[in-house]
Amino acid sequence: MIILKSQQEIEYMKKAGELLANVHKELARLIKPGVTTMELDEFVEDYLRKHNAFPEQRGYHGYPYATCASVNDEICHGFPRKAALNDGDILTVDMVVNLDGWLADSAWSYGVGNISNDAKMLLDTTKDALYIGIEQAVIGNRLGDIGHAIQSFVESKGYSVVRDFVGHGIGKNMHEDPQVPHYGVPGRGIRLLEGMVITIEPMINVGGYEMVMDDNGWTARTADGKLSAQYEHTLAITKDGPLILTTQD
Ligand code: MF3
Ligand code: CO
Repeated sequence: MIILKSQQEIEYMKKAGELLANVHKELARLIKPGVTTMELDEFVEDYLRKHNAFPEQRGYHGYPYATCASVNDEICHGFPRKAALNDGDILTVDMVVNLDGWLADSAWSYGVGNISNDAKMLLDTTKDALYIGIEQAVIGNRLGDIGHAIQSFVESKGYSVVRDFVGHGIGKNMHEDPQVPHYGVPGRGIRLLEGMVITIEPMINVGGYEMVMDDNGWTARTADGKLSAQYEHTLAITKDGPLILTTQD
């Protein structure tokens, strides 16, 4: 069941989204070689508490941390670690902010120190893919239009779109209907309606889209060991087009 949101409810979610965007801007300054993802996780938890919010991911189906911190070949749900980040790594930090019961979800990929041109190209393409998907998030379009726009762009660059994880509706719960695949057929899937709030969060791989699960039962990494990146926004479908609730601009 899709839960449509009123303008007032979208405003509440925008407040959570603004806070989340500010956390990402702080992380952008903190992320460098030598820092650990555990330190970043603690920073996020403290920052949210100081702003009367909390990290919704901690405890979600038993997930143990405030953030997901996925490095290099990790696709998503990487556990924060006490090992230092290395020059040349890429790191995706994903988090869900709960402010007064309303949620916002945004993942961002970062280069650590100096990254290779190949890594830079992956990050740029993945971010572009997110915004190409968001452009399709207009009333009357269908979910397949979002997925197809992302998939065709990404595959034209020689990369692949992860199949095992998708975007989703969001509101007072992290995962609501509908599921939002980052691949698909134009004109297929449910129609987008005013008041829907969804995430678009393409995970893009340099090699194949196949994944393997770590022993921890959470962390997905690329089967071929090649790099993976992800950018995610929470957005509302409005009469005036997509309204990005987690914008950093
Ligand atoms: N933020 C993730 C998403 O985009 C969810 C992570 S699962 C969790 O849906 F268990 F870590 F919360
Ligand atoms: Co999400």
